Amino acid sequence: MSRVDFDPAAHPGGIYRLLTAVVVPRPIAWVSTRSADGVDNLAPHSFFTVSCADPPIVQFTSIGRKDSLANAVATGELVVNLAPEHLIEEVNATAVDFPPGCDEFAEVGLDREPSVVVAPPRVAASPVAIECVLHDTKDLGASVVVFGRVVLLSVAAEAIVDGHPAIERLRPLARLGRRQWSTIGEVREIGRIGYEDWRRRRDR
Ligand SMILES: Cc1cc2nc3c(=O)[nH]c(=O)nc-3n(C[C@H](O)[C@H](O)[C@H](O)COP(=O)(O)O)c2cc1C
Repeated sequence: MSRVDFDPAAHPGGIYRLLTAVVVPRPIAWVSTRSADGVDNLAPHSFFTVSCADPPIVQFTSIGRKDSLANAVATGELVVNLAPEHLIEEVNATAVDFPPGCDEFAEVGLDREPSVVVAPPRVAASPVAIECVLHDTKDLGASVVVFGRVVLLSVAAEAIVDGHPAIERLRPLARLGRRQWSTIGEVREIGRIGYEDWRRRRDR
């Protein structure tokens, strides 16, 4: 296979745009926080994943020092809302570089609802709210990783099938490279293979 190699050292501005085009698709944490002054904040973060199963911890990365980071550190609480397909315009609008102290819920016209355990509100129209307390932060220089310990996972009853969140009802958005976003496409199921089973199949 013929390949094109990109050396980070040869890209003084960083290979951010190339990396975000190949680390795809990225789920979007729609992070709600409340400032120490009581102003609600909402912003999307696609540098987001589950970082620990037990204890349950999720993480997002603030590229630079943004309000979501400042609020999470100041109050020790945050909520990760799932960014659903039907709210793509609103998710994007909450990424506008509003001045600090601006309430994106009000600015963008999104209803909020109270969380159960933490103070920051949830996005009422999102099917999933992951309520978290701040577990830790990791300063990487230009970025800071924020770790939230999950204290409550709340899923819309309509999105639950057989006791489990159903992907076709959650309909999450994801980020790709450049200005591209994606939605859930074909969903395939494949089971994990234990080693004994693997050997049996191999030696058949
Ligand atoms: C889909 C999407 C994903 C984004 N992902 C990130 C991210 O992972 N980290 C980040 O710092 N900014 C990200 N941004 C930009 C922030 O949402 C934007 O800077 C926002 O204004 C930050 O808000 P805040 O200052 O209230 O935290 C993303 C924007 C969009 C539209």
